[in-house]
Amino acid sequence: MRKPIIAGNWKMFKLISESVNTATELKSLVTNTNHCEIVIAPPYTALKSTSDRLEGSNIRVAAQDLSTETKHGAHTGEVCGDMIRDAGCTHVIIGHSERRAMYGDTNAVVNRKIKAALGFNLTPIVCIGETLDERDSGEAEMVVAKQLEESLAELTADDLLRIILAYEPVWAIGTGRTATPDQAQQMHASIRRWISDHIGTGVAESLRILYGGSVKPENIADLMREADIDGALVGGASLEAGSFSRIVNYERS
Ligand code: PGA
Repeated sequence: MRKPIIAGNWKMFKLISESVNTATELKSLVTNTNHCEIVIAPPYTALKSTSDRLEGSNIRVAAQDLSTETKHGAHTGEVCGDMIRDAGCTHVIIGHSERRAMYGDTNAVVNRKIKAALGFNLTPIVCIGETLDERDSGEAEMVVAKQLEESLAELTADDLLRIILAYEPVWAIGTGRTATPDQAQQMHASIRRWISDHIGTGVAESLRILYGGSVKPENIADLMREADIDGALVGGASLEAGSFSRIVNYERS
């Protein structure tokens, strides 16, 4: 059985105090939750105070990115994986579509970041997904397969067992337009097939694939009913503890 993961991506929102407050509220709303793993990704500046506040809780903390560099040095503005661990993180989001679109995170860069994260014992949450144009021209599966091939290049089956994938169709992010459970399931099944064909059936069976793109308390249960959807990566609806906790506790709603 794959244990579900519900992850919140706070993007470039929240000052330190806001992040700690939301985390404190969330912690009290999910104390009894154990059907899924819970992860939140505050901005870099709030990582340490937030993870300190969550110590001993069932909520893990992720960074939203990390450097490809693995040795400390003259890399202005970059944050190394061990610094992220030092700030109390266990996970790191890699290759989010906003980074791919605006900050030059190509598949090759994503590949280096995954290797860097694994080297520092951080669990990468690797994002993939097609644009609207690519979907409309019938290329969605091909684009995602290429992202998998290049982003996961040279990784072993053991590496893959330490990774979480997040399928996030770009046209569904922040648009209010969620992929239907059917559309999401189809792509998740195709991702799992790709992993099975290229890495191995065992890995494919245990790999967790999250869905991301306009996930809300109202649509999470339907998404989670699909066989190959193992959780969600949530943006907007994760910013408030109340709505995020309803997503986390989708089983009870
Ligand atoms: P959204 O963002 O839930 O606001 O659509 C998802 C994401 O960017 O990870």
